[in-house]
Amino acid sequence: VNGSKELLIEMGLDRKLIVPPTDEVIRMAAAEIRHGRLVVMPTETVYGLAADAFNPIAVSKIFETKNRPFFDPLICHITDLEMLNETAVDIPEPIEKLIEKFWPGPLTVVVTKSSKVPEIVSAGLSTVGIRMPSHPIAKKLIQNVGRPVAAPSANIFGKISPTQPEHTLELDGDVAAIIDGGKCEVGIESTIVRYHNNSLHLLRPGGITLEQIEECCSLNVIIEESAKLPEAPGQLESHYAPNSNLILIDEGEKITHETTNCCFIGYKRVREQSNFIYQEALSPTGSLTLAASRLFELLHKMDSLNPEIIYVERLPEVRLGHAIMNRLRKSSAKN
Ligand code: TXA
Ligand code: MG
Repeated sequence: VNGSKELLIEMGLDRKLIVPPTDEVIRMAAAEIRHGRLVVMPTETVYGLAADAFNPIAVSKIFETKNRPFFDPLICHITDLEMLNETAVDIPEPIEKLIEKFWPGPLTVVVTKSSKVPEIVSAGLSTVGIRMPSHPIAKKLIQNVGRPVAAPSANIFGKISPTQPEHTLELDGDVAAIIDGGKCEVGIESTIVRYHNNSLHLLRPGGITLEQIEECCSLNVIIEESAKLPEAPGQLESHYAPNSNLILIDEGEKITHETTNCCFIGYKRVREQSNFIYQEALSPTGSLTLAASRLFELLHKMDSLNPEIIYVERLPEVRLGHAIMNRLRKSSAKN
């Protein structure tokens, strides 16, 4: 799209502005990606910072903008099996089964990469993470780009993931547009799996639960989410960290160190007597789906109040509670 530059500026796409997801905006944003720039796109999990996956210079801008270490590989986002075959080779049968069941959706598979995938995307590994998002705006954008789009979560490395367009405004780089998709429905990143040595490995719990995966492929799943030597830096112990200290407590547990400057996130309920400057329940109904969708939003909200401590109540580690607790433990790891 030649001469799109002026149009983009006119529409505000050349500044850090959140733009509505009209067909025209999506077409122009796709053209910007093809020209090597970045675009913030909504997905059903979290917002992603997207670049042309086959353009190493464009991809390097992702690392620069996020302040992300080059040893942390990116996920390629696709919209059809043709793109899958362009990106991966030798997909094992259990992975095919999972793909069939859970794509499009919050599942990333780590498979052997094709020669088209630049080293910078896979951080030098022979494998690549691939996901087919279900979000209509992400789909339309990738289709318009016409090739896979590499996209990590659109936050500064190690910080809280973005579930609303406003959360991505802190990014400062060659970002052509932030496409407004409202709040992310799932609210927590995709589940990452890999099949090797005849077993299925869970590298990161996420939007598709362990229970769902086990049911689909009746395989014993090896959980590797907190490896000491991370194969995937999503496994790094401290991640998703607010600026404030985050401390995990049990329901009803007495808070011994309550300063006048604390926030609280309860699972189902807030606390009746407290000095919290702000508190909210993650999921008044107890639904873990609701809890996952609100987790990062509440962390962003509390963190913006600059409390000394954010206390968060532990949740049951079943279904989505597994992914939620994984994120919360990492958020609290620096303390
Ligand atoms: O839901 C999601 O997955 C979101 C949205 C935007 O799609 N993306 C996301 O990307 O969470 P990111 O970069 O924040 O996390 C991707 C994780 C990283 O921790 C990375 O280490 C791991 O995926 N990963 C990527 N490629 C890998 C590979 N070849 N082997 C092992 N882990 C890999
Ligand atoms: Mg991330």
